[in-house]
Amino acid sequence: MKVFENKADLIFEINSLKQQSKAIGFVPTMGALHKGHISLITISKNNNDITIASIFVNPTQFNDKKDYQRYPRILSDDIKMLEKAGCDIVFTPTEEEMYPEADNRQFDFGNLDKVMEGKFRPGHFRGVALIVSKLFDIVTPDKAYFGEKDFQQVTVLKHLVTIMRYPIEIISCPIIREHDGLAMSSRNMLLTKEEREHVSLISKTLFEAREIAKKLNVEETKNWVIQQINSDSLLKVEYFEIVNDINLESIHDWSQNENKVGCIAVHVGNIRLIDNVRFY
Ligand code: PAJ
Repeated sequence: MKVFENKADLIFEINSLKQQSKAIGFVPTMGALHKGHISLITISKNNNDITIASIFVNPTQFNDKKDYQRYPRILSDDIKMLEKAGCDIVFTPTEEEMYPEADNRQFDFGNLDKVMEGKFRPGHFRGVALIVSKLFDIVTPDKAYFGEKDFQQVTVLKHLVTIMRYPIEIISCPIIREHDGLAMSSRNMLLTKEEREHVSLISKTLFEAREIAKKLNVEETKNWVIQQINSDSLLKVEYFEIVNDINLESIHDWSQNENKVGCIAVHVGNIRLIDNVRFY
């Protein structure tokens, strides 16, 4: 596996791969890798000649400075994990490399960045779009892989590719979970042992909600989920919304003929976790 810190060196390598007509799959990450990230590498490897990962904790997408500071950074472990997974190239730029100067670009995502994560983390998706577009410009992949764990992020990035006319296919990949159902996340490693035991209630409740939804209407189901999770003294729901999976508008009636996804954000101590589940 080749490791590049410098974008000029990476671009040189990619140009040579393109001359050999290699199909390139790209997996952007912020590191502290787990099996969820590795699943994206595996899917990319199965569908491309070359898989490139990036590791960069992107400051512009953190609206909370403390969250940015305490975000786990374990680069040497990450590199070992990527090597084991058969990743071909990893890009590990510094902040100066990605942001040599301030980038004031704005993007118009319509409703997509006004709700849920966009509402509670102002500026978050602008930061995500900024870094992903910079990475796309460097890596110029054929396909880019993102996890459904960050459901709204995938929706926003599909829109980014459309408005920026990138010839890149965005592939969304299933959520990988721990044995007790907790969605894998780099932030899970920041939980205390006690918190870790309590957070399994989040996915458990989401899965139960799919059954409850057969008896309750949308509003009642939403309230049930919020009450259920808030009944645990360590957990506090920030939002739970059931939305159309394309335009992220709220669903009001189960009979609406649209794909429905329930998205949640929960605070546990000073950590914030997200998850989602499809409703049928
Ligand atoms: P990060 O949180 O490191 O996640 C990198 C990719 O891994 C994202 O596409 C995310 O959805 C996916 N992922 C994380 N946990 C997963 C799980 N349990 N199952 C499946 N996929 C999972 O998302 C980001 O980084 C950043 O916003 C980034 C896109 C890299 C831009 O900075």
